[in-house]
Amino acid sequence: MIIDTSHLKTFVSDAELQAMRSEVLQARQTLLNGDGKGNDFLGWVNLPDTIDPNIISSIEADVARLSPKIKLFVVIGIGGSYLGARAVIEALQSEFAAAIPSQRPYIVYAGHTLSEDYYHQLIELLDAYDYATVVISKSGTTTEPAVAFRVVKAHMVSKYGADEASRRIIAITDARRGALHDIAVKEKYPMYVIPDNVGGSFSVLTPVGLLPIAMAGYDIKALLQGARDMRKVCIENDSFEKNPALLYAALRNILYRKGKKVEMLVNFLPNLKYISEWWKQLYGESEGKDGKGILPHSLSFTTDLHSMGQYVQDGERLMFETFISVDAPSHSVSIPMDEQNLDGINYLVGKSLKEINHNAELGTVVAHCNGGVPAIRIVLPRVDEYVLGQLIYFFEFACGVSGYTLDVNPFDQPGVEAYKKNMFILLGKPGYEGKQLV
Ligand code: PA5
Repeated sequence: MIIDTSHLKTFVSDAELQAMRSEVLQARQTLLNGDGKGNDFLGWVNLPDTIDPNIISSIEADVARLSPKIKLFVVIGIGGSYLGARAVIEALQSEFAAAIPSQRPYIVYAGHTLSEDYYHQLIELLDAYDYATVVISKSGTTTEPAVAFRVVKAHMVSKYGADEASRRIIAITDARRGALHDIAVKEKYPMYVIPDNVGGSFSVLTPVGLLPIAMAGYDIKALLQGARDMRKVCIENDSFEKNPALLYAALRNILYRKGKKVEMLVNFLPNLKYISEWWKQLYGESEGKDGKGILPHSLSFTTDLHSMGQYVQDGERLMFETFISVDAPSHSVSIPMDEQNLDGINYLVGKSLKEINHNAELGTVVAHCNGGVPAIRIVLPRVDEYVLGQLIYFFEFACGVSGYTLDVNPFDQPGVEAYKKNMFILLGKPGYEGKQLV
């Protein structure tokens, strides 16, 4: 992975970057010493190296046990408890996976919405296909996944009977506490633990992400190897040239202090859309507090150039862009010859879509920079499990460093509680009677 800063020259000087170096080095030291805010949630820092190999074996055994007998695997979770898995799976699978027959289960998601129509449609699907499910909740008490699990479990018991349902349900939750923990123990579901010292946003390299990714047929050992190698890079190197996480954390804080309050993560491959969703969750929940924080936003180009392109080029100058650029797509498609050339695009004959897409990216970066929008480019050699493992750890580590540079606690999320409290008051949850909306 390379961070390309060549399009930042008119926005960030070398002197500004060097001035920020001591701050990000200090922030990294705080992270590694474990003496900063939220330091009881730093388990993710060493996770790629410390994960118990028995967990990997157990995940592989569950995949081998369940996948031959199911067409669908329902992943129930919300926020950090599901977005990492979805990001990796959607980055690796075909855009048209739902319509392609496969030996592997197709992954569907629940617990991330309260839409009645969504659950009606899910039940229709579950009527039609054999399935199993994993329910993921660190607290074990979050309403959305609890509601989804109640619906899916009832369907499963009526379809397969209680005993077989218990074999088709896996729970991932706290080691000791929470309603989900208690249900899993009582019903004897296979259970994985989310370590106490890993928060939801940073949990993708625990069973939270690894189990669904493995069930979808992807190589979790390669994912962890990528993360492990990136951890070494982030921890051992002090220079911006050799440490992409320090560089990224420094650049975004410099831009933020210059009034660039919005960061738009941009991709040119639609499969990366959920990488952006995961990234928004990670950075939004980590940094948006105490009246501070860069607002994370995302765009998929070229399609969004036809909706948001005008604003980015010419609207209020409050943002910078971070491009995820992929050197080598997984497949090649060229433009075929058409003798009539009625569409006028014969000048593209023989060129691959990769070349056209890269030129669209370059043209966009230059145009937006000229329009006053700074661009950071994160250049990936390809998209596979190893590179995604690197990317995940890079973003996590940079987030910890960036959050400490911003002087917030990157590892809590007190603001998420306000809507929950109001919802409980409105729905009449026991214990909330007579309380005022906040
Ligand atoms: O990142 C977080 O901490 C949150 O997004 C949680 O993952 C989300 O709120 C779900 O919480 P839980 O896993 O406790 O159900």
